[in-house]
Amino acid sequence: MASFIPISQSQTLFNNTRLRKLPPLFLPSPNLGSDFLAKSGFVRFQNPRGITGLPMKTANVVVSATTAEKPKKRYPGEAKGFVEEMRFVAMKLHTKDQAKEGEKEVKEPQERPVAKWEPTIEGYLKFLVDSKLVYDTLEEIIEKASVPSYAEFRNTGLERSESLAKDLEWFKEQGYTIPEPSGPGIAYSEYLKELSETDPQAFVCHFYNTYFAHTAGGRMIGRKVAEKLLNNKELEFYKWDGDLSQLLQNVREKLNKVAESWTREEKNHCLEETEKSFKHSGDILRLILS
Ligand code: HEM
Repeated sequence: MASFIPISQSQTLFNNTRLRKLPPLFLPSPNLGSDFLAKSGFVRFQNPRGITGLPMKTANVVVSATTAEKPKKRYPGEAKGFVEEMRFVAMKLHTKDQAKEGEKEVKEPQERPVAKWEPTIEGYLKFLVDSKLVYDTLEEIIEKASVPSYAEFRNTGLERSESLAKDLEWFKEQGYTIPEPSGPGIAYSEYLKELSETDPQAFVCHFYNTYFAHTAGGRMIGRKVAEKLLNNKELEFYKWDGDLSQLLQNVREKLNKVAESWTREEKNHCLEETEKSFKHSGDILRLILS
């Protein structure tokens, strides 16, 4: 997993308890590619003592800005707010075909071009059922708000649980048997419940990625599957009350506000969770092809 190392003024990297708990520093993520961190600008070393040529792991690196230097914006998207930082990390985890900013290699079936997918109704139903479990879970967590800041995300208009219930009812009326939730949905739901109690920054990463992905790639997938399997019927899952771009903007502002109270380290921890969000959502997407 990638480690996004904060570069704050006069901070010794290895003195920090949270960082000590993180996986080995500077190891490139298999998904992000070996030069991701360097290219993305997440890790930029300033070595004020002029230690050069030492392996990074062993150098006692102190990152500091000299008094003469102006502080720089070091995190892509930072100037626009934290959502832009989360988006930047998410976009890199797409394949080139999925999105032009994507950098990930195609490894899993659901990462192949959507146009070439061969979905099945049974698979799509499994996907909808597991998605409903995930949205039910997210929406219950937000409603309960065991962490007070979660209450900011109540009634955003992005909720999907009820619309999915209507869609599953429609499939039932058409004579289909609705399956029980399967492994990927159950595993993600359990993970989200645990995270919501123990790790609010990581939980917010999943909240952002799940709702925003669905309005982008998710909608595109919905259109393609409807074309192939449902005679172009548009499901409720892909309809929102009101102006979707305004709803998204309102949630971006709330996310930015919540993240304003986080330390740089907490923000980086949230960004690092993006890969797990892709992993779980990818497992659920793959059901469409089963
Ligand atoms: C077949 C799978 C996928 C496809 C085809 C796809 C495609 C896309 C596209 C076309 C965009 C819009 C790019 C733009 O604004 O220029 C997008 C945005 C995004 N995707 Fe995906 N995506 C996929 C899977 C995922 C997954 C699994 C996640 C994470 C769970 C994810 C998270 C996001 C996020 C957070 C955005 C930004 C949305 C925004 O800015 O409003 N995507 N995706």
